[in-house]
Amino acid sequence: MQIIKNIEEIQALREKMEGSVGFVPTMGALHQGHLTLIQRARTENDRVVVSIFVNPTQFLPGEDLDKYPRREEADRKICELAGVDVLFMPDIETMYHGDEVKLKAPAYLGYVLEGNRRPGHFDGVVQVVMKLFNIVQPTRAYFGKKDAQQLRILQKMVEDFFMPLEIVPVDTVREEDGLALSSRNIYLKPEERKRALSISRSLKRASRLIMAGETDADAIEMAMKDIMKEIDVEYIAIVDRDFRPLRKVEIKKTIILVAARVGATRLIDNIWI
Ligand code: PAJ
Repeated sequence: MQIIKNIEEIQALREKMEGSVGFVPTMGALHQGHLTLIQRARTENDRVVVSIFVNPTQFLPGEDLDKYPRREEADRKICELAGVDVLFMPDIETMYHGDEVKLKAPAYLGYVLEGNRRPGHFDGVVQVVMKLFNIVQPTRAYFGKKDAQQLRILQKMVEDFFMPLEIVPVDTVREEDGLALSSRNIYLKPEERKRALSISRSLKRASRLIMAGETDADAIEMAMKDIMKEIDVEYIAIVDRDFRPLRKVEIKKTIILVAARVGATRLIDNIWI
């Protein structure tokens, strides 16, 4: 595995790569969720590139940029064992130049739900992912459904800018008890982790209700709220694949999303119906 920090080197390597290139952008503190993306990229491509870059422009003032977990050594080992060909770990100065041309997330999709709670977050995500795509020039790029809105916005970016690559969505990886894996789970105290479980339980309850024939969004939302009484729910949203609110759940067209604070930690999760 080659570890690269600068643009010239990775571009030179990229030029020499033959066949398809699978790319997994991350912010590090790698867990089984990231690893599943990497493994999928490994099986579907001739070469695999992973990036680790804690992107400052997608953090709002007061968010956890400074204390975002950094585990360079462990991350390298995980990538090495997973058969990654190139690990790209640029510095901030390598990625950003000061007063830049800026991309903006879509006015609706970029500013509802997560974008409403974290205004500007998705602007930072599209800015950095556009840069990374231009550097790596992947055939396919892998993103988790866990960050459903991010995934949809990046699919839109690729469509809107006619970019010659495929975005591959990957199912959310969970702990055995249902908690969606996240780099932020390490912030949870044991008692908080227990309460955090109510998020995935509420989503499971929603899917069971739907399987039993319930389609009314309000009824589903109420049942979910009831399960999450002991945490601070920011939103429950029942939306279509473009994140427009639905009054009635439609099979294969619906995403149910939750954002909640458990103690000081903000968690998101969702299921695709
Ligand atoms: P990060 O949070 O490190 O996540 C990197 C990728 O891993 C994302 O596509 C995310 O959806 C996926 N992922 C995280 N947890 C997952 C889980 N439990 N199951 C499946 N996939 C999971 O998302 C980002 O970084 C950044 O915004 C980035 C795209 C790298 C841009 O800075």
